[in-house]
Amino acid sequence: MNILGIETSCDETAAAVVADGREVIANEVYTQIPLHIPYGGVVPEIASRAHIEKIPVVIRRTMEQFKANTPAGAKIDAVAVTYGPGLAPALIVGLNAAKGLALSLKVPLFGVNHMEAHLHTPFLYDRGDEPGMLPPAPESLMPALGLAVSGGHTCWIDMPEYGRYEIVGQTLDDAAGEAFDKAAKLLGLGYPGGPKIDKLAQEFLSNAAGRGEKIDLIKFPQGRVREGVAELAGLPAELCVSFSGLKTALLRHVQKTSPAQDEIPRIVASYQEAIVEAIATRTRNALKRRSYRALVVGGGVSLNSRIRRSLKEIAERSQIPLLLAKPKYCGDNGAMIAAMAYYRRNLTGADAMGADVRPSLEAGEEP
Ligand code: KG4
Ligand code: ZN
Repeated sequence: MNILGIETSCDETAAAVVADGREVIANEVYTQIPLHIPYGGVVPEIASRAHIEKIPVVIRRTMEQFKANTPAGAKIDAVAVTYGPGLAPALIVGLNAAKGLALSLKVPLFGVNHMEAHLHTPFLYDRGDEPGMLPPAPESLMPALGLAVSGGHTCWIDMPEYGRYEIVGQTLDDAAGEAFDKAAKLLGLGYPGGPKIDKLAQEFLSNAAGRGEKIDLIKFPQGRVREGVAELAGLPAELCVSFSGLKTALLRHVQKTSPAQDEIPRIVASYQEAIVEAIATRTRNALKRRSYRALVVGGGVSLNSRIRRSLKEIAERSQIPLLLAKPKYCGDNGAMIAAMAYYRRNLTGADAMGADVRPSLEAGEEP
């Protein structure tokens, strides 16, 4: 079954075709990052307009790739689209384009939850990949603990069986990606901050190690939540994080010390370490609560080199596999949407033709 997936929830205009929920046949992503750089973050109005402008091109190129990679006569069997969570003016563009496409192709339309789709990315592979190197089938790894870490989300998700999701922990304010982006903005490093901080921190840590120096990091708060706040969200405090205190601590540090340019790498390495530890602790706590068979991670922040290493150590200690996506599927893409629709289609049904966008949709929430 070939599903065409469309994604416009934030600042990527993306489409892809995936066969049977795993094999990516065509994949196109247009990133709007350069448009948002002057503002230091995503501007919804600009995102929406750029989606309107780019979506016809992205879909056309995806279909060209699909035709080039399949035998003559291969068809699209369904269309899938992100209907939430995300920015309403951005989601609307994708949803409307998908409705039009499904109507013109005379195929069903499935609505997909963006956060659930991020957790499917480790199971994607490309047409032509070595048969022996393909990721395992998701059904074989349940129950699994999911971790979605992106610019919009930081969530620990219980997956008792494939296609069922329950949030067991999350950030109570900023997402990890937002914490990276805000710090980079404060330090004048530009947008998006995650990759920049990752690179600077990596250089700082490896230079210090190369010189045989003891790594002296600034102690920033590691995301502890204020008493009672997690309970208000109905979640255990040990599985929740808050990054607002970390951001304030960074601001205070900068105001107090007026750091010189050459101090920045140490500051960002310390800041990154606080985020890594915050995520590591909650992940360890979540793994203790239930016997899981895998740790499945998705989202743009899962590209972070320290986070990847820390999660690898945690999974090894728990003797379970760690599943991470190929780098090109960590950020937002249409392949994860097409693939998720294949797995969820029997649960959600093809009734997205009348659907509206759901900007605050949670993982596990039914349409
Ligand atoms: O998943 P994604 O592309 O979009 C959302 O759904 O939010 O994630 C984007 C986020 C941005 O906040 C960006 O700074 C962060 O992922 N990011 C990283 C890295 N690469 C991207 N954060 C830390 N380290 C990285 N290497
Ligand atoms: Zn995303």
